[in-house]
Amino acid sequence: MSIKRPKGTQDIVPGSVEKWQYLENEIRKICSDYGYQEIRTPIFEATELFQRGVGETTDIVNKEMYTFLDKGNRSITLRPEGTASVCRAYVENKLYGQPQPIKLYYLGPMFRYENTQAGRFRQFHQFGAEVLGGDNPLVDAEVIHLIWEFFRRIGVKNIKVHINSVGCSVCRVEHRDKLQEFLQDKKTDLCHDCQVRFEKNPMRILDCKNPSCQAIVTDVPTTLDTLCGQCAEHFTKVQKLLTMAEIDYHINPKMVRGLDYYQKTAFEVIAEGIGAQSAICGGGRYDGLVEEIGGPTTPGIGFAMGIERILAVLENQEKDFEEDAEGGVVVAALGDLAQQEGFKLSTELRQAGISTTMDLMGRGLKNQMKFANRQGARYVLIMGEEELTKNIVIVRDMSLGDQTEIPRDKILNYLLEKRKNSEFLL
Ligand code: HAM
Repeated sequence: MSIKRPKGTQDIVPGSVEKWQYLENEIRKICSDYGYQEIRTPIFEATELFQRGVGETTDIVNKEMYTFLDKGNRSITLRPEGTASVCRAYVENKLYGQPQPIKLYYLGPMFRYENTQAGRFRQFHQFGAEVLGGDNPLVDAEVIHLIWEFFRRIGVKNIKVHINSVGCSVCRVEHRDKLQEFLQDKKTDLCHDCQVRFEKNPMRILDCKNPSCQAIVTDVPTTLDTLCGQCAEHFTKVQKLLTMAEIDYHINPKMVRGLDYYQKTAFEVIAEGIGAQSAICGGGRYDGLVEEIGGPTTPGIGFAMGIERILAVLENQEKDFEEDAEGGVVVAALGDLAQQEGFKLSTELRQAGISTTMDLMGRGLKNQMKFANRQGARYVLIMGEEELTKNIVIVRDMSLGDQTEIPRDKILNYLLEKRKNSEFLL
């Protein structure tokens, strides 16, 4: 019996990996434009980090973590998200000692034992960013603007930015009381999980996917009804800045997000056309989290987006990835001697930084041209016995469909000149 990949995972093979690389390049570019530095944390952490950070009453911690004992009997968990790890690293590496705020981004796999369906995986990938040490509403607006601009750059259309304020530890006490009061006589109609949530963390009931629970919470008191003065002022300022930045946002008072660390601003980006798993990005402020995991009082805000879901949106919107990938040179050498010369030429071109591929299978010209087409090559350099004798190379421009003969010793300069004039990408 052949061995298959585990449920909820994917192989990213050539043909689709180029789309990932395209996104990764755009991510690194925008993070640099907005002044973020990369952080890389371990893929596994002490289980306690997520229990304390993400919260004991969340679905992630309760049902979805990949947790095991290692050989030293320590409880280890494959990271289900990145925020708790970044906060731990911020404390452990004393990044609070540097000028604040610290702006960090990460890119990598996350693990949740979920019921798999389209857009929902057990190993998925996030691009996330966290800003630590800044409590100004300007930080919230800048973070949301980065997301907005990122989707604009990569060409994601028809998105909705939902924002809410879930309040702080002070105003949440009042909200909790109001919510319990409202749900008291409906408690027995809630699902089993929500009856537990009612006692431990009633706000989580708003997140329940069970249709009967959703019907019960239609008219619940929201966190916006109980915001304290400070949280209300913060939320008003954030909205004003988002309006100034011309971000098309919608206030969604029932969006509470599925993780416990949020305070004040929370947001989600929803995309059309990819089915039920339409949240392509989620995030918010988490001012108490660093302290919760043993660090100094530090405000924080961030987001994470699911790469698989973004790719699904782009594919659904028929984005032409080929356009972005085109470029480079294919050396098509025919016959033994020409292959040796082609090998030498490829080496020279690569040393000059020109992306060069050479046929290694001894194919005929027709198949080599097909191969070059599939590669999206801009130029094919054709060399057979006749060209060797004449000491020339035939340069075929795949975009224009024409070809010229160039002396062998002039070919590198010819291509460098083309590159200088931006006639092809590398
Ligand atoms: P989250 O909403 O749990 O937030 O996940 C963020 C994004 O990751 C989602 O919007 C979705 O695009 C993607 N995602 C989540 N689960 C899956 C899955 N099973 N399969 C595919 N994609 C998935 C967080 O993770 C927070 N750490 C975000 C954050 C950062 N908040 C503050 N800073």
